[in-house]
Amino acid sequence: MDSEKLLEEVKGILKKDMDNEGKLKQICKLLKDRVKHYDWVGFYLVKKGRLVLGPYVGEPTEHTDIGFGEGICGQAADREETFRVQDVTKEDNYLSCSVEVKSELVVPIFKDGEVVGELDIDSHEESPFTDEDERLIEDICEEVAELL
Ligand code: SME
Repeated sequence: MDSEKLLEEVKGILKKDMDNEGKLKQICKLLKDRVKHYDWVGFYLVKKGRLVLGPYVGEPTEHTDIGFGEGICGQAADREETFRVQDVTKEDNYLSCSVEVKSELVVPIFKDGEVVGELDIDSHEESPFTDEDERLIEDICEEVAELL
């Protein structure tokens, strides 16, 4: 995976003349298409204090509205930190989307010091996420924060 190139492509998408929803969807598609171990990529956006599913690419999920503290997404929002879970079966506070998902990376998006959304990645591989994945997704979230 070429993180620098992917980040540049994300910046290119953000500059396009298109609505925010279209841009976020394109970012999801770029990441899912180009990184082999990304099987579901989606944004949750904070609305009325809850995480509401926004643009995503991958199988539909029943978890379209998640409270802070619930599941991995909710914990990341509540603790305001990245969650890298290499084996979801070891996580008690987890909302399963599909039995195929083995691991998950959730990065909060901050605006003026507050969590306004998240980028969530599910993988069908166990322990696929490295520091490089975490850095890339955190960098992308910083860029996306400008939109929200
Ligand atoms: N697994 C997440 C729920 C969202 S889905 O992965 C798309 C969680 O535990 O919060």
